[in-house]
Amino acid sequence: MKNPASNIVPFVSVDHMMSLVVHVGIERFLVELAGYIEEDFHRWPVFDKTPRVASHSSSGVIELMPTSDGKLYGFKYVNGHPLNRHNGRQTVTAFGVLADVGSGYPMLLAEMTILTALRTAAMSAVAARHLAPAGASCMAIIGNGAQSEFQAMAFKALLGISELRLFDIDAPASRRCAANLRAHGFDVTICRSSQEAIETAQVITTVTADKQHATILTDNMVGAGVHINAVGGDCPGKTELHRDILMRSDIFVEYPPQTRIEGEIQQLAPDYPVTELWQVISGAAVGRRDERQITVFDSVGFAIEDFSALRYVRDRIRSTDFYDRLDLLADPDEPRDLFGMLLRHEGTRPAAKPNVPL
Ligand SMILES: NC(=O)c1ccc[n+]([C@@H]2O[C@H](COP(=O)([O-])OP(=O)(O)OC[C@H]3O[C@@H](n4cnc5c(N)ncnc54)[C@H](O)[C@@H]3O)[C@@H](O)[C@H]2O)c1
Repeated sequence: MKNPASNIVPFVSVDHMMSLVVHVGIERFLVELAGYIEEDFHRWPVFDKTPRVASHSSSGVIELMPTSDGKLYGFKYVNGHPLNRHNGRQTVTAFGVLADVGSGYPMLLAEMTILTALRTAAMSAVAARHLAPAGASCMAIIGNGAQSEFQAMAFKALLGISELRLFDIDAPASRRCAANLRAHGFDVTICRSSQEAIETAQVITTVTADKQHATILTDNMVGAGVHINAVGGDCPGKTELHRDILMRSDIFVEYPPQTRIEGEIQQLAPDYPVTELWQVISGAAVGRRDERQITVFDSVGFAIEDFSALRYVRDRIRSTDFYDRLDLLADPDEPRDLFGMLLRHEGTRPAAKPNVPL
């Protein structure tokens, strides 16, 4: 082996990711991850940007999300299958790669199902720091599935949200979410409708999963001054807010060419004015202006957030054991002798056993 460091790729499994989060502490993890996201949003213009590449089917979507800052390249594979939970599967699963642009060699392979929930929550909280009413302490969460607790934890860690009002069409989901979050010190109320959930909330998070247009919030439900963190609508044909709410709000987005395809604003004219969040974060645009303004973060999830998350994990696993060393890249002593390496291997291995079907 010529250079063990370059052909062995660190791999963060689900088990190791959980160990890392527990080791760091979930709130600290979210705060540090938010810092990496903010750092990358500050240097937004240097990134290669493209809407994600989506392959739709009647049951869901599979997407690839690439980006590069010129030194590092990252991509995430992610799916969205709202019906999966009916047969015991996750709606969203993901994994990702960080690579060195100079050599093209991967530097990290990581599970990203847990990491996506963390980065989505950290991103929502970063946006809310600029958009939510000052001193907000109560958040409604509509949709109490896999992402919901992560959202709550990020809003606790970054904004000091302490009171939660939950609603889900599936009551056991709200009960599970409430139990998990009460254990983290939240004051939680389970509500019987979206309307009841948002009654006293200054922040409204919608994080439901449905393949078609849904109307989780109607115009008459939403009063002045709230911040809406709209997370669940993230695909063509999949929205959560009534169009009239958008017409009364100031809308903030990640990357407009992607959000116009996938976000709540797919319901609006293609040139409807929106503000790019990176401009708010970097100080070039204003976030919340006054206490009566309704703000919407039309979250769809953009590749740069995953890049930030992978960068954070790469830095965080250094000097820990929370990864495996993956023999991912063929690396013969003489780079052109790939075939010779195979021949030498053949000479040293016992005959292969018959294949066992996967
Ligand atoms: N914006 C982003 O960056 C981002 C990232 C990850 C996931 N998502 C999206 O967030 C959504 C939720 O993901 P998840 O992993 O938590 O899914 P999940 O399937 O685990 O949970 C979704 C929950 O929504 C509930 N629900 C469905 N329709 C509802 C309605 N009308 N009113 C109230 N509750 C309703 C379901 O009962 C379920 O409990 C998905 O649509 C996913 O694609 C977005």
